[in-house]
Amino acid sequence: MSLKQSILQILEENRETSISGQQLAKRFSVSRAAVWKAINALKTEGYQIDSVTNKGYRLAEDCDILSAEGILPFLKLEYKDTDLYVSKTVESTNQEAKKYSAKKTKQRILIVANEQTLGKGRFGRTFFSPENSGIYMSIILPLNIEAINAVLITTAAAVAVCRAIQSVANVQPQIKWVNDIFLEGKKICGILTEAFTNVESGIVESVVVGIGVNFKTKPEQFPDEIKETAASLFSGKAPSVTRNHLIAEMTNQLLEICGDLNDRQFLEEYKARSMVLGEKIQFFRNNSWHIAKVLDIDPNGGLIIEDEQGKIQTLNSGEISI
Ligand code: BTN
Repeated sequence: MSLKQSILQILEENRETSISGQQLAKRFSVSRAAVWKAINALKTEGYQIDSVTNKGYRLAEDCDILSAEGILPFLKLEYKDTDLYVSKTVESTNQEAKKYSAKKTKQRILIVANEQTLGKGRFGRTFFSPENSGIYMSIILPLNIEAINAVLITTAAAVAVCRAIQSVANVQPQIKWVNDIFLEGKKICGILTEAFTNVESGIVESVVVGIGVNFKTKPEQFPDEIKETAASLFSGKAPSVTRNHLIAEMTNQLLEICGDLNDRQFLEEYKARSMVLGEKIQFFRNNSWHIAKVLDIDPNGGLIIEDEQGKIQTLNSGEISI
């Protein structure tokens, strides 16, 4: 890690307190001039660094630039060895992640971008991914699990994201089956899970979990098609955390929950957060929409419904509307 990166990590770790040039110089055994040069280089990259007389440097409260140095301090000790790749712009972080999956890596990898030019949603849709205002991340999980358990990752990821958002932003997100995250009736986050299965063994060797959060996108920024249904986690108010912090927390929660997918305890939380349990919904099948009532979620995350003819069936994938 370069001096500039080391200083950035210290500044990200200590956002509340100023650190003097002298402290930084001593810590990294360099001259104060070298510290000054590194601080200036960070400023040139766009970091707003406040210099308080007799106190030192600290990042401005609204300085929210994505970086590995900003994510790392918030990762749990056991996950700090995750490989982190942070880019300004990519077509799609899931697409990037697939390149690593194809190499059959055994390593956990987190890919983050400040903007996506071809963000992918479910059912071949696009995911609106403007710069500086959202979180676009993909985690590659090397797993080796049966395909049936891989389905559960989609459900688990929704619970992990809700837990993370709740812990850093003190709000209570809800889940619209399968894994859209809603706040106050509007979608703030979508998740796209893609699995890589060994055709011969039927074993899922790795899974890419792609998470897109509308973090501070302004209502007027959303395209017309989603203006009525989408919102941001921090809509019209100053974010109380950085995007880096929430990225780390989502990673912590996801890795924790995926550590033991057989322990299906998270399904109870999934049900408690569900917006559709007990509700009338519409589901799409055979080219048309049908009305049904949601009865339960099955142990694999499927939606148990009763259709208009009184027939009970389980939906394992697809789209519903409420
Ligand atoms: C959906 O709502 O349909 C799912 C959206 C998933 C979007 C995320 S953003 C990060 C990752 N990269 C992508 O291209 N898509 C996922």
